Amino acid sequence: MALVLGIETSCDETAVGIVDDRKLLANVISSSVDQHVRFGGVVPEVASRAHLEAMQQVIKQALIDASISIKDIDAIAVTAGPGLIGALLVGVSSASGLALALDKPLYGVNHLSAHIAVDQLDNSNQLQPAIALLVSGGHSSILQINNLATDVIVKGATIDDAAGEAFDKIARLMGLGFPGGPLIDKQALAGNKTEINFPRGLTSPADLEKHKYDFSFSGLKTAVARYLAQTPNYKKADVAASFQEAVVDVLITKSLAACKESGIDKLIIAGGVAANHRLRELAKQRCESAKVELRIPPANLCTDNGAMVAALGSLAINEGVAASEIGISADSAAPVTQVVWK
Ligand code: KG4
Ligand code: ZN
Repeated sequence: MALVLGIETSCDETAVGIVDDRKLLANVISSSVDQHVRFGGVVPEVASRAHLEAMQQVIKQALIDASISIKDIDAIAVTAGPGLIGALLVGVSSASGLALALDKPLYGVNHLSAHIAVDQLDNSNQLQPAIALLVSGGHSSILQINNLATDVIVKGATIDDAAGEAFDKIARLMGLGFPGGPLIDKQALAGNKTEINFPRGLTSPADLEKHKYDFSFSGLKTAVARYLAQTPNYKKADVAASFQEAVVDVLITKSLAACKESGIDKLIIAGGVAANHRLRELAKQRCESAKVELRIPPANLCTDNGAMVAALGSLAINEGVAASEIGISADSAAPVTQVVWK
């Protein structure tokens, strides 16, 4: 049992979570999203400065929420990649400073694995083996999780945009705002998902031969852009619902195919896009039919947070993984297979 404090700064959320083994004690998030809205996307320099300004207060608040003192912490975990380099460096420097000052181990961990590890919190079920569908703003992949800390196999990934990126770009085309995922999700609630039959990327027999578990959203993006340009007075809700259906249909179909082929009857869906209502609903229906156990973290733990980083730190400790060196550097392009920094 260990009290782990996790720090997340890979994008625009300055977030700190505290867990006691698998128990969630605190989850505090300060987002700089409002400062990026007028630019239509996250501005790295603005995000880094906001992390610097928010860090101390977010740590303090997490300790208050968990009703503990900083001296009670057994280990510090921090997102060391992938993400925006300047933003990551603020988190890694803060975490290294804390670990040094408290003389406690430091775990530099992978942001993507952390999205999956959050499934463990307040949950006594066995996490692995499982197939994981990881869908965020920067990444989309299907993974086979034999052991989240030590043995992750990439079965497929996007060959162009990430799923969240596709949501963000389509929202921009429709003038909905930023970040687009939650806005499309909301529009789609009032729309007809079968109104427009948008293409499902990489699902033709020829594509499946080469890209069985890969995704592509660029053709879909072009199809939506063309539809918008050719359809005066289009209904935003119908476009949102039909676009969303095309994305989630492919995501779930390919994930369940991976479950079937590997003989693994557990599917974990993680990352910001896993907060999507329709993705959650369709996954539930299809997993029930396929007799696959479905795990999706609560929506507030799907988007970036510190609890997921603490959860992965805690998992690494339980798996006996060695702590990271003080002085690790952040890696903006770390692959999903690099789970804990040496
Ligand atoms: O995991 P995340 O919070 O940050 C990254 O690691 O990238 O994911 C952010 C992405 C954004 O693209 C956002 O639009 C998308 O997740 N997202 C959603 C929803 N909530 C967030 N996409 C679809 N439906 C949602 N409800
Ligand atoms: Zn994320």
